[in-house]
Amino acid sequence: MQLGVCYYPEQWPRSMWADDAKRMVELGITHVRIAEFAWSRMEPRAGEFVWEWLDEAVGTLAAAGLKLVLGTPTASPPKWLIDAHLDVLPVRADGTRWNFGSRRHYDISSATYRRECVRIVTAMAERYGRHPSIVAWQTDNELGCHDTVPSYSSAALERFQAWLQQRYETVEALNDAWGNVFWSMEYPSFGAIGLPNLTPTDANPIHLLDFRRFMSDEVASFHREQIDVLRQHAPSADLLHNFMGFFTTFDHYQFAEDNALDVAAWDSYPIARTESIALPEEQKARYARTAHPDVSAFDHDRYRAIGGGRFWVMEQQAGPVNWAPWNPVPAKGMVRLWAYEAFAHGAELVSYFRWRQCPYAQEQMHSGLNLPNNELSPGGLEVQQAAREIAATAALSELGAPARAATAVIFDYETQWMFEIQRHGKSFDYQTLVFDYYEALRGLGLDVDIVSSKADLSAYRLVVVPSIAVIDDALVGQIERSAAQWVFGPRSGSKTTTFAIPSSLPPGALQRVLPMQVLEVESLRPTLAPAMSLGGVHGVAMHWREHVRANGETQVDAYFDDAWPAVLSHGRVRYVAAWLSHALHREVLAQAAQDAGIETQRLPDGLRIRRRGDLTFAFNFGAEQVRAPAPANATFVLGTSQLKTGDVCVWLSA
Ligand code: GAL
Repeated sequence: MQLGVCYYPEQWPRSMWADDAKRMVELGITHVRIAEFAWSRMEPRAGEFVWEWLDEAVGTLAAAGLKLVLGTPTASPPKWLIDAHLDVLPVRADGTRWNFGSRRHYDISSATYRRECVRIVTAMAERYGRHPSIVAWQTDNELGCHDTVPSYSSAALERFQAWLQQRYETVEALNDAWGNVFWSMEYPSFGAIGLPNLTPTDANPIHLLDFRRFMSDEVASFHREQIDVLRQHAPSADLLHNFMGFFTTFDHYQFAEDNALDVAAWDSYPIARTESIALPEEQKARYARTAHPDVSAFDHDRYRAIGGGRFWVMEQQAGPVNWAPWNPVPAKGMVRLWAYEAFAHGAELVSYFRWRQCPYAQEQMHSGLNLPNNELSPGGLEVQQAAREIAATAALSELGAPARAATAVIFDYETQWMFEIQRHGKSFDYQTLVFDYYEALRGLGLDVDIVSSKADLSAYRLVVVPSIAVIDDALVGQIERSAAQWVFGPRSGSKTTTFAIPSSLPPGALQRVLPMQVLEVESLRPTLAPAMSLGGVHGVAMHWREHVRANGETQVDAYFDDAWPAVLSHGRVRYVAAWLSHALHREVLAQAAQDAGIETQRLPDGLRIRRRGDLTFAFNFGAEQVRAPAPANATFVLGTSQLKTGDVCVWLSA
């Protein structure tokens, strides 16, 4: 369990640097990330490098005994570069260009910008690549943040056409696969295909999907150019990128694979995230100061898989932030709790954003570990407490790696894109559906791995697929070979890879293991709520329901009140034919877990547990005091079983 911090020496007088470094070490911080927005200071004019200040900053921090994470500055190209190369600015869907004056104002498809990035990264890597205190490099910053992935530039268009040609080989094959006979959309050549913007009504969904697939590949290949430079010049450093929470614009599994990342790092802002995602208002209100109990855990569990087991929190909320619709001060204890939570889920490092609140510019309302006057902030004091506890407790400082969970949830990026392109009902959001299932599993006290459908799933006892648009033979093969219980949610197998309805009807290839067919689907306005019960739990379908037919030996385990099947099963495979209200999802999963021989419990709202090594952690995000479900004779290494809001306890698992 190591603690880090994000630091911007270029924003403070040099006279403060040595004292900052000393105070970081005193606080218990071991890692410091610097430089990721400092291009205008590294290269104030084209080709004129000024390293002397960065040499001194690196030297000062290293001399204090800190390990460094060096960021490449490509998320903020300087003004001289934009003035010299206007084509670096990205083009938005409406055809206008972004302006200079904030950050991320670059087009990932621009050949000019790619060349400029390789140039600055090479210069940095040649200078610092073998510095013994620089243990990791972070590339760029939050790729895609501020909705900057899709670019509708001529560079993007040219590369998209080449990408399509490679994928389809002939334009006839593309016309056929896309169904372009519809509305006379047929193209005479690849060069005639445009980007899917500025059309009077919906563009062809497969055109949109291929553009999203292409953009996802663009992000990975843009990034790969930096990785290639860094591998060469910094051969022993960990290479990472700081991803975001709930962010799905590119396929992170593919990205990690294409870039051979050493660690998946991500930026965790639990309260701001809770405010900005599609949660019911009642939950946002309940967890306004603690964050929803699953909102960070969800991404810890996802990024652990993306990093092949290794993940860091590169930026951790340390107090109120500035960018959510509302930005409250966290409840007392939460800054400390979030650190333990990340460690319980397997993080190697939790690094805070930022060392000191900056009194000027865009983030002046964003807290840090220090107030602008250099006094430790309330969050800073909680970090100090956590650092002292960890240092004093061998069981915490020498934690083993997290074991594989018995339960997997499949998260699929393409499914997110397909159902965004074709919501069909305005409240249908795939990631929110996955989150609801995840929340139900965690409320049952289970540890969960969130993984790709292409991962090896053979060791799991319960595999939950809240939905997956395309079910391919490989996935059906995994079901056939595994001994697990499988739960599939609505819209599973509803599409082919070319965004059409399977000829056998949904759920497509899943019918091989679960004979059934989806005849019609409906999205549900809030006043349409077909009711049902399962295992004594009453609830309704929300957002989405399917009218399905059970075939062969498939059983109907529950019906809606209007006689349509709600839950079907065949052998070890279940299908849930609607988006059900939360308690019903929990009941479906509790039954599947029981069939899988996995023990569950009903945790009070706001209480969560997580096992790592031989420890069990419990966290209280709720407003009331609760009792952690530790055995009566448990040995506690931290806290006790009585948990007030924001409290943590840790005991030795039996
Ligand atoms: C992150 C970003 C940081 C900072 C932070 C504020 O998204 O990487 O640079 O802006 O948000 O919360």
